[in-house]
Amino acid sequence: MRILVIGSGGREHALCWKIAKSPKCGKLYCAPGTDGMSDTAQPVDIDANDIDGLLKFAKSESIDLTIVGPESPLVCGIVDRFEKEGLKIFGPRKDLARLEGSKIFAKELMKRFGVPTAGFKAFDKFDEAIKYVEAKIPPVVVKADGLAAGKGVVICKSVGEAKDSLKKMMVEGCFGDAGRRVVIEDCLIGEEASIIVMSDGRDAALLASSQDHKRVFDGDKGPNTGGMGAYSPAPVITDALFKKIIDIAILPVIHGLAKEGTPYKGVLYAGIMVTEKGPFVLEFNVRFGDPETQAIMPRLKSDLVEAIEKAIAGKLGGYELEWDRRPCVSVVIASGGYPGDYRKGMEINGLEAVKNIGDVVVFHAGTKAGKRATDGRSLFITNGGRALNVTALGEDMKSAIDKCYTAVRAISFERMHYRSDIGYRALKL
Ligand code: AMP
Ligand code: GLY
Repeated sequence: MRILVIGSGGREHALCWKIAKSPKCGKLYCAPGTDGMSDTAQPVDIDANDIDGLLKFAKSESIDLTIVGPESPLVCGIVDRFEKEGLKIFGPRKDLARLEGSKIFAKELMKRFGVPTAGFKAFDKFDEAIKYVEAKIPPVVVKADGLAAGKGVVICKSVGEAKDSLKKMMVEGCFGDAGRRVVIEDCLIGEEASIIVMSDGRDAALLASSQDHKRVFDGDKGPNTGGMGAYSPAPVITDALFKKIIDIAILPVIHGLAKEGTPYKGVLYAGIMVTEKGPFVLEFNVRFGDPETQAIMPRLKSDLVEAIEKAIAGKLGGYELEWDRRPCVSVVIASGGYPGDYRKGMEINGLEAVKNIGDVVVFHAGTKAGKRATDGRSLFITNGGRALNVTALGEDMKSAIDKCYTAVRAISFERMHYRSDIGYRALKL
């Protein structure tokens, strides 16, 4: 098969790495991809949001299957466009990609299907939103309705902070149209985990549980990032809790949408808060998690291409994915300064040495091919905030973490930054 993956981050490298192992995979492209993933997929210079360009490429290259990494093309309707042209693509159509593209849509859907989620109210009028938070006991959570590159959620510790956030979003338009409407939510306390499934519109193939680390510094300090590391499985999700989450948060959505005549096909990712009162859904995403996918793919024994084909064909009933029982840890190496300003073009050393460590794989994100200043030798240089995802499997969580950090320490570039405590929650349990 000729397969196209859309995106260019660590998630897409992990997907390509896994897809390339499938006996079904002939030629694999990644658009735009990066030089760092050319060991598994050929990068194609088309932006992930250039749907016309991607469609033209898929047709001219006779692509048999397209897999979408990021949410933005899905929200823009890439699946509708590809399907209209008779091309096979994995993901929800535009109307259902709103599960991620609109927090209000997602919250109302959860309410309709009885999915446990924080109490909320939606607003499109600033004055009414202000009146509502004035009557609330903080903390409250203010969320921009639309996509805001992961920055549209503010946990407000005071009414004043909530009012400021509302003003920035609704009046000053700091997220453009995405923040003109907002959701104001009750604040939940607990531990977060990610539950990701692939839905065929009726049944689901369940991916292993995982946990992200969103803050930039150790101990979950500092600003939020796109994710500084992940591990799978997440011990906070016991087998019983996993089953419960599937039963009360995932299947009601899949079955509810099918009943309404709009079956959901694609990845469904539930961001879960495990509270004293049980699990609650914080958000739904319509794609694989990043960096969760980097910690999940090395554990997946089944053929991902086969599973995705079954999902598209509506044949996931009775199908189960097989997992390596060993835990996996993925640590992000970022450019110093990220998620604020950072420099690009730093020479990355040590990647060759890491290749010799068993059960370790490095997924590239913000890197590109370059030349060493001193002798012109080819190497990778940094080209983004999150540069690399160093990933290791181990007999248990502790050995996976130790192995991962052995590899991390073998890699170096100027001003590199990584968290040294990825997986700490798993060790506490
Ligand atoms: P979201 O994009 O809705 O998942 O929000 C991003 C992050 O904000 C989540 O991963 C949580 O850490 C936090 N968050 C969102 N909603 C809530 C809530 N109701 N209570 C507490 N934390 C929340
Ligand atoms: N790891 C968070 C996300 O993929 O949205």
